[in-house]
Amino acid sequence: MSAPIVLGIETSCDETGIGIVRGHRLLANEIASSVDEHARFGGVVPEIASRSHLEAIEPALRRACTTAGITLGNVDAIAVTAGPGLVGALIVGVATAKGLGAALGVPVYGVNHLAGHVVVDELHHGPLPDPTVGLLVSGGHSSLLLVTDDVASITALGQTLDDAAGEAFDKVARLLGLPFPGGPWIDRVAADGDPQAIDFPRGLTGPGDRERYPYDFSFSGLKTAVARWISAREAAGERVPVADVAASMQEAVADVLTARMVSACRDHGVGHVVIGGGVAANSRLRAMAQERCDAAGILLRVPPPDLCTDNGAMVAALGARLLASGADPSPVDFPATSNLPVTQRSW
Ligand code: KG4
Ligand code: ZN
Repeated sequence: MSAPIVLGIETSCDETGIGIVRGHRLLANEIASSVDEHARFGGVVPEIASRSHLEAIEPALRRACTTAGITLGNVDAIAVTAGPGLVGALIVGVATAKGLGAALGVPVYGVNHLAGHVVVDELHHGPLPDPTVGLLVSGGHSSLLLVTDDVASITALGQTLDDAAGEAFDKVARLLGLPFPGGPWIDRVAADGDPQAIDFPRGLTGPGDRERYPYDFSFSGLKTAVARWISAREAAGERVPVADVAASMQEAVADVLTARMVSACRDHGVGHVVIGGGVAANSRLRAMAQERCDAAGILLRVPPPDLCTDNGAMVAALGARLLASGADPSPVDFPATSNLPVTQRSW
């Protein structure tokens, strides 16, 4: 008997994502982004995001079914992001999932977007080893996780005390006059810069911080340091070397993320690590993580870049995981929860 077909719906921010999987096999991953409509505001506008999801979700659903070569009648279960995210945006996905679930008579799982960012790697590299350390780095979250019991348990080892890593990229990009979202632009521009040009602060690496905050991060000081560095150049009438600032800032983020990730593995005796979330698409983070994991004898897994940024496949992957483990579907009245904690895998 072939594995069940799971439809995944993602509408937590500015991407309308529909993913379809059969077990660990990805059949379709349709994404409609409203990012261009937010760009001129320099950040995601929740009302615009919600309206765009309403317009995009049905066509995306149709395209995904066509790509997967299925009809909705073939779907065995539905998974939808229940949080965290923008509540008005989440509601579009949650209402769609509940309506489809009732019409098709299939179970609906309201799942955690952040857990999806970690579990999506199963579509590319197969089941996650037990235990695995997860480095989750997105636009709104940065955490180090201990994932155990076949992904049934997610423990937060540490998180950012202020800005998320993606937020740091976006804010520094803005300071450099690069478009929103800034992460991919910093990545691109940094290719022509010198990562050693400027020694930006790493955050929580001062005396005593290693003991007090072994697995936490802080990126707001980095953003301030970049802003001050740029202001000083401008005040002196000097040109700002955009590529060098981008490369040095990227180096600081990759350095602190990978150092803590390797420490978490060592301290907990875990030999496997997975990186997920939009920032996992960053080329320098991927390369540095590989170098440091190789040196430490840790097996690194990172999904391909298009599965790192928000998508429906990650939601379907987590739904398939829940279905396979015999987890109960969510109650019909499960809510969209903007601040769903990373430790709560589903409703
Ligand atoms: O996971 P994601 O797509 O959405 C959230 O759940 O937040 O992450 C979006 C974040 C943005 O801050 C974006 O700038 C960042 O991921 N990002 C990157 C890259 N691609 C996306 N940051 C650095 N380098 C990249 N290549
Ligand atoms: Zn995300």
